[in-house]
Amino acid sequence: MSDKVVLSYDGKELELPVSTGSMDEKSIDISKLRGATGLITMDPGYKNTGSCESKITFLDGEEGKLLYRGYPIEQIADKSNFEEVMYLLLKGELPTQTELEGFVADIRKNTEVAEELVQMLNAFPEGSHPMGIISALTSALSAFNPEKVNVATEEEMYDAAVTLLGQFPVIAAWSQRKIKGLPLVKSDSSLSYVENFYQMLFNDGSEGYKADPVIVDAFDKLLILHADHEQNCSASTVRLVGSSHAGIFASIAAGISALWGPLHGGANQAVLEMLEAIQNDGGDVAKFIAKAKDKEDPFRLMGFGHRVYKNFDPRARIIKVAADNVLTTLGINDPILDIAKGLEQACLEDDYFKARKLYPNVDFYSGIIYKALEIPTEMFTVMFAVGRLPGWIAQWMEMRQTNQPIGRPRQLYTGAATRDYVEMSAR
Ligand code: ACO
Repeated sequence: MSDKVVLSYDGKELELPVSTGSMDEKSIDISKLRGATGLITMDPGYKNTGSCESKITFLDGEEGKLLYRGYPIEQIADKSNFEEVMYLLLKGELPTQTELEGFVADIRKNTEVAEELVQMLNAFPEGSHPMGIISALTSALSAFNPEKVNVATEEEMYDAAVTLLGQFPVIAAWSQRKIKGLPLVKSDSSLSYVENFYQMLFNDGSEGYKADPVIVDAFDKLLILHADHEQNCSASTVRLVGSSHAGIFASIAAGISALWGPLHGGANQAVLEMLEAIQNDGGDVAKFIAKAKDKEDPFRLMGFGHRVYKNFDPRARIIKVAADNVLTTLGINDPILDIAKGLEQACLEDDYFKARKLYPNVDFYSGIIYKALEIPTEMFTVMFAVGRLPGWIAQWMEMRQTNQPIGRPRQLYTGAATRDYVEMSAR
């Protein structure tokens, strides 16, 4: 196959080099295009634009394939755990036992949250969305860790990363405690990362609180499945903000805001709200499918479709099984789940959805598990953020370590052409 593309424009020919990735993906390097021809490329939504080279995550939307550092997500979800996955994403290789213990210990050293940060948490008004809270408090970590903001060496970046990995689950769990009006539960360093997060969310204060292992396992899987997804909206935001050399806390806070939107991570909350709306409307799934297909109606079926997966979302397959396990273990029989199953089945058989390759995505099922675990709906996207944190950090580190230039897209200006200023009296 050719290693270049020849572009002809205005009587001139330009050769654009083709690069091949390690999974045989191809890209054209257009960085010299504007200089040589005066042309820029237009690609709103970056549907066809690569923003970087990356060694972290590979996904193939046609094949429904997802690899973390080369390892298939199915194997990772089956055999690994979230602590190991965090290490893998950040460092590039699976850890030895000693390396893993050192990494976990480094995170644990950072779980003490400043009293002033707790005061900030308490200052948020009732009804604040927890995504807003955690984004603000993550950004505020810059003020509490000024020496970890302008980091340059690998050691300094690692130090900033484990600080954030230690602080973030505490902030996230405490935002839920605040919503529920419950006292804050301290971090317990005798527990694993996921068990500890879970107990900070749910410990009712009873002596020797122990979470159900089936639930912890499902939680662990959920976090693993959300841990990275290459250059999605929030990861790209983290990279873009970080490319100006804003610090790690500010960059990740921006990523949290990007994740909040219902077209991205906010979809898990939107899915449940949609299922409840269908239920309150009498449970007629067909009516909502018709709405989603109606081009005059802005309504979309939340939890369906994906920018990259056009066959199936491999995470959705794994999570569907986990959801079934949790519901069976907890003996839950929720009518909302019947609506979800009916909706899924009807869409899989519907020509509109088939033709557009719209399948349930990871967020369609994750909300079902969160609901079964009695996590408040507005906390769903926070759960996603806790899972995605190591991915964001890995993307940020890679961006800094490879000296990616500041992100600054071009535009095609379609506003007024040059004109003279009009004095107020003449307007
Ligand atoms: N319901 C109904 N129709 C849909 C849906 C949907 N959920 N998603 C896409 N379509 C239709 C579009 O109307 C469009 O139809 P057309 O070709 O007749 O105009 C076609 O499918 C293609 O849709 P696009 O918006 O061009 O696809 P894009 O790749 O830009 O969007 C997205 C992907 C944002 C995920 C979209 O499918 C969507 O809005 N889904 C619902 C929200 C959601 O679940 N988001 C979570 C994504 S996963 C994640 O972030 C972890």
